[in-house]
Amino acid sequence: MSLEGKAALVTGAGQGIGRACALALAEAGARVAVVDLKQEAADATLALLPEPSRHLALIANVADSAAVKEAFAKTATAFGRLDILVNNAGTGTGPNDGSAKMYELMAQKNAEIARGETPKTHVEQAIYMEDEGWRAVMAVNLDGAFYCTREALRIMAAHDIRGSIINIASTAVQSGEGPLHYVTSKAALVGMTRALAREVASRGIRINAVAPGPTDTPLMRSIPDEWISSLEKAIPLGRLAKPSEVAAAVRFLASDEASYVTGSVLVANGGSYFF
Ligand SMILES: NC(=O)c1ccc[n+]([C@@H]2O[C@H](COP(=O)([O-])OP(=O)(O)OC[C@H]3O[C@@H](n4cnc5c(N)ncnc54)[C@H](O)[C@@H]3O)[C@@H](O)[C@H]2O)c1
Repeated sequence: MSLEGKAALVTGAGQGIGRACALALAEAGARVAVVDLKQEAADATLALLPEPSRHLALIANVADSAAVKEAFAKTATAFGRLDILVNNAGTGTGPNDGSAKMYELMAQKNAEIARGETPKTHVEQAIYMEDEGWRAVMAVNLDGAFYCTREALRIMAAHDIRGSIINIASTAVQSGEGPLHYVTSKAALVGMTRALAREVASRGIRINAVAPGPTDTPLMRSIPDEWISSLEKAIPLGRLAKPSEVAAAVRFLASDEASYVTGSVLVANGGSYFF
């Protein structure tokens, strides 16, 4: 699965799955642009890559189309090409999105169950969610993936590159488990993957998604412990994924080994749901 001679850009690569993807692609020989909201986080990932001077660390908010444009222009200038994009940047929360209320209700319901009562509490988010909370998650997970994909396609089309774009979706698309805006955004990302796979196939550009199950990253550590242990119990392999295990799926789809795979969702979820 050599990626020698190829150039890649990974969003949200300052930690977690994005960092593992940057590492996997760089170890396979690609030059990698590590993009994150935070420059220190991008720099920290860059320092972990083999021969850091071959790669780039860039700051950009994927929800800001002007910032995205600039990051891709810098990447194209530095590497002279772009073969691989990993749309990994994502978030599960936004301001006033009702999540604090939902966690409070969840704790209330768990306490009712622990007392041996029939639970009366409704654990819900939609009725407590303000517009800005909904928008904040859509802006990163969906708009951001579109802005980055559009720039990548512009570069690939201009240089006649048969590139590969990988969108990080989630098992939540299938299960429906997770915050409302998050699950909705990831389902839309799968729709975008399929529609674009058809649209750009004639150029030889492939678009796929990877759907990780719960993965041991800083994002996952921000949710309540009892939620994590109940997730683990529902996974046939009995544990969370390691970021490197998700990155291995991404590296495969990025490589020529996956030359006949497009419009697919590759699931790395320990067997918890079958797509
Ligand atoms: N961890 C899991 O269990 C899990 C499961 C399924 C899918 N995913 C998806 O995998 C991706 C990575 O998840 P993770 O657990 O590594 O997350 P994380 O929160 O640990 O890391 C995300 C990184 O993205 C960066 N980022 C956030 N918003 C950004 C923005 N607007 N622009 C640029 N960078 C931004 C953050 O600074 C951070 O470095 C996300 O899309 C997430 O939805 C994660």
